[in-house]
Amino acid sequence: MDFKEHIRVIMDYPQPGIRFKDITTLLKNGEAYKAAIDELAKLVKDLEIDVIAGPEARGFVIGAPLSYALGVGFIPIRKSGKLPGETIEADYSLEYGKDKLAMHKDAIKPGQRVLIADDLLATGGTIQTSIDLVQQLGGEVIGAAFLIELSYLDGRSKMNGIPVRSLITY
Ligand code: PRP
Repeated sequence: MDFKEHIRVIMDYPQPGIRFKDITTLLKNGEAYKAAIDELAKLVKDLEIDVIAGPEARGFVIGAPLSYALGVGFIPIRKSGKLPGETIEADYSLEYGKDKLAMHKDAIKPGQRVLIADDLLATGGTIQTSIDLVQQLGGEVIGAAFLIELSYLDGRSKMNGIPVRSLITY
């Protein structure tokens, strides 16, 4: 399947000069969404994953079905103030803005092999912060999976050798 055909590109959103990759057009198409998750599952199946962690909000839309497809658990990485238990937090910068991500302190058992999943690898700020949080909790980040990678922003260079698997590249 040509997955790019299902991604809508919106010019100048949320700021002038940004060509926003809108995945809602893929998500609403059941056949394309299922095929995308099934393909991603194939791309990561060699990694011996114990659990998948994904950052809010679009990371849930990819990470949760990928967890289901692989039969492993899912851990939400949330924006600050959303998780009810004890958390650790980290600040991060985005392609356009700043935020804070959090995880429950007991989300990961030390030594667990964690795949991080998200819809998009852009500057890599979100994934770098997610990796940092998982590692602080004693998890071993064994890979990162993305629906889309914007290779011209070179987020991959922030991955410190952690394997990156992406389905669609621009
Ligand atoms: C978007 C996207 C990734 C991140 C990629 O999330 O879903 O998580 O930006 O950018 P980066 O590689 O430059 O960090 P956003 O923070 O817009 O949040 P959302 O998923 O809640 O829309």
